[in-house]
Amino acid sequence: MDERFAGEKQYYVNIKKVLNPDSIYVLVDKFNQLDEEYVPFDLEMIHEKFNPMRLLMRREARIAFEDMCCLAERQGIMLEAVSAFRSYSYQSMIYMKNWAEGISLEEYQRIRDRVSARPGHSEHQTGLAVDINDLEETFADTQAGRWLANNAHYFGFILRYPKGKESITGYDYEPWHFRYLAKAWIKSLDQSLN
Ligand code: DAL
Ligand code: ZN
Repeated sequence: MDERFAGEKQYYVNIKKVLNPDSIYVLVDKFNQLDEEYVPFDLEMIHEKFNPMRLLMRREARIAFEDMCCLAERQGIMLEAVSAFRSYSYQSMIYMKNWAEGISLEEYQRIRDRVSARPGHSEHQTGLAVDINDLEETFADTQAGRWLANNAHYFGFILRYPKGKESITGYDYEPWHFRYLAKAWIKSLDQSLN
């Protein structure tokens, strides 16, 4: 597998500008880029109980995240946000932070692209993504990691970079990264089942 490609399509080639950045369904990936200036209009601070780092999410996602944390807590599981909204410039800094002398930019990108989005290409800039508890693959096998994998969708969140889908997402498995996609369709599915 050539890790620069999703099927026939090469990542970070023929990039499209995102035209609906405020939509809850916005697609941001290695082919779709947000403007440098884009900052969501309804960012709010997540409740401090689940947010030691004073992070922000868009209002709807923030409410869903807090609801999820409350239910988890009632079931004895502590969840907290460790990264949420990130600006374009902060993402630039994160993306480049491990670049060291002697490594060409191309080689750096090849390795870094597996785990970090280039600026404008991170879901964190949408204000709809949240990293939870622990940025290690072993998080998947913790109580909290298993709880999230089984329950996050009830609150409108998807595990965005699953194991086994690396050649589609272009990212290594991230059991901690959840993307809010709205609960509306789940509700309508419930209704159609009743
Ligand atoms: N780690 C994820 C892919 C990001 O940088 O947005
Ligand atoms: Zn993330």
